[in-house]
Amino acid sequence: MFDNVGWGKKKRLSQIIAGDGRAVMLAIDHGYFMGATHGMERPAEAIKDLLPHVDSLMLSPGIVRNSVRPDFGRGMVLRASGGNTILDPDIDDESLILTAKEAVRLNASAVAVSVFVGAEHSHQTIINLTDMITDAAQYDLPVLGVTAVGKALKDKKEKRYLTHASRLVAELGADIVKTYYCEGFEEVVAKTPVPIVVAGGPRLDTYEDVLTLCYNAIQMGAIGVDMGRNIWQSDYPAAIVQGVNAVIHKNFKVKEALQLVESLCNEATRRKEYSVETAQDIKDSKVH
Ligand code: R5P
Repeated sequence: MFDNVGWGKKKRLSQIIAGDGRAVMLAIDHGYFMGATHGMERPAEAIKDLLPHVDSLMLSPGIVRNSVRPDFGRGMVLRASGGNTILDPDIDDESLILTAKEAVRLNASAVAVSVFVGAEHSHQTIINLTDMITDAAQYDLPVLGVTAVGKALKDKKEKRYLTHASRLVAELGADIVKTYYCEGFEEVVAKTPVPIVVAGGPRLDTYEDVLTLCYNAIQMGAIGVDMGRNIWQSDYPAAIVQGVNAVIHKNFKVKEALQLVESLCNEATRRKEYSVETAQDIKDSKVH
């Protein structure tokens, strides 16, 4: 993998893809179009306990400057396209919001550009990707191409469309493709000649569903996940992120990973109860 790229790009990619060829990316860039999303109101606090369990963060440039300590030692994939919000009719009218030079100045491992293939602004978003690929090439900076869907494309999270969009993104020169998991996902992987990571999407019903998504994606050839809401909107983010990590890096089966998550959740509950009881004891001892 990546035999034909320069040392600088290999070095940056190694901050995203671990030595085992797998990647756990934590996506926290949602605020660039959703604002202060539930679970990510205070990014620095929300990610504090998750960082040891991920290979990289995917995030917006403002959050790097304001919420990530400069001694953060893992990969950072910077969102480089944007310009629409959930208050707009749709979110595909994007431009580049970052230059490759600025990304390198922020010590990014890669930049991410969304393409909305087939949406009203499809052409423009494809050109955003190719412009960034050309710009980033000057610095050996990898580009992650995101096959995004807005409202107009919301029903397109299926094999035929995702294969088409992912292949386009790879053809245009992205180093990694981020797409959605779907039934028949192995075909998306087979026809996309660069590594693929899958998004998590909106919150699933159970931890088992989240772990099954990760497991199936890996079994069918994805190198990992770039997951957000299913981690930091969950009741126990630090537990589920460890389960996801175990599936991706330790080859845990769903059942084993679920046991790990459940034991971490129980431990966290016990700790919470203990601190509530201790606080009450202190209060009571002051009263008497
Ligand atoms: C797209 O690139 C988005 O900004 C998110 O990074 C992406 O959807 C992954 O997050 P989630 O797992 O919450 O869908």
